[in-house]
Amino acid sequence: MNKISFQPFIIGVAGGSGSGKSTVSQKVLAAFGADMVSVVMQDDYYRDQTHLPPEVRPEQNYDHPQAFEWSLLVQHIQALRNGEAIEMPEYDFTLHNRSSRTIPVKPAPVIVIEGLFALYDPDLCDMMSLKIFVDTASDIRFIRRMQRDITERGRSVESVVGQYLETVRPMHKQFIEPTKRNADIIIPHGANGPAVDMITTKVASVIGQLKRS
Ligand code: C5P
Ligand code: MG
Repeated sequence: MNKISFQPFIIGVAGGSGSGKSTVSQKVLAAFGADMVSVVMQDDYYRDQTHLPPEVRPEQNYDHPQAFEWSLLVQHIQALRNGEAIEMPEYDFTLHNRSSRTIPVKPAPVIVIEGLFALYDPDLCDMMSLKIFVDTASDIRFIRRMQRDITERGRSVESVVGQYLETVRPMHKQFIEPTKRNADIIIPHGANGPAVDMITTKVASVIGQLKRS
């Protein structure tokens, strides 16, 4: 087993759908590489829905905290903290279900947990050394979501608009927006350059300390 002898620096990156949290996380990963940074995407912990008929799956509320398998996510983060590799589930948005594959994630000095509810669970928040909320205006988030869901997630204009009004928008106000209060830093306008620079400077200093110790 690939064991590490120190507690990793865990960063939570939360924010509404289309806010740019995946981009922030990928920029941190790109700055230091996969030996130093592992990213865990909360989207991959959407509950398995194999038991539901395919036509019912699109109707579920995917913006409620209960849509996620929290126990598996917490178990996996604890394993990474203990220096153990995990097999992360892989989610397929076109099927509204987990795919048959898993994604290997190895322990690393820096672990990024990215997702709508990254700053929702108190136990997960307690494990984080840096909590970030990406606070992008809702009109920009909606435009991004519309473009992405049509090009990458196999959706129609009607389905994106219907889902946004029915669940995405109200759940954001009820459950996601309030987690901003759990953040150490709030970054506006998505993955903006100066904010990403500040985060990578912090991560570089943490990695530098680990190398010296
Ligand atoms: O990347 P992003 O944070 O936007 O991904 C989360 C979004 O994915 C949620 O707002 C949820 O509505 C959407 N989703 C979906 N269909 C699923 C699972 C999640 O549209 N089957
Ligand atoms: Mg994303």
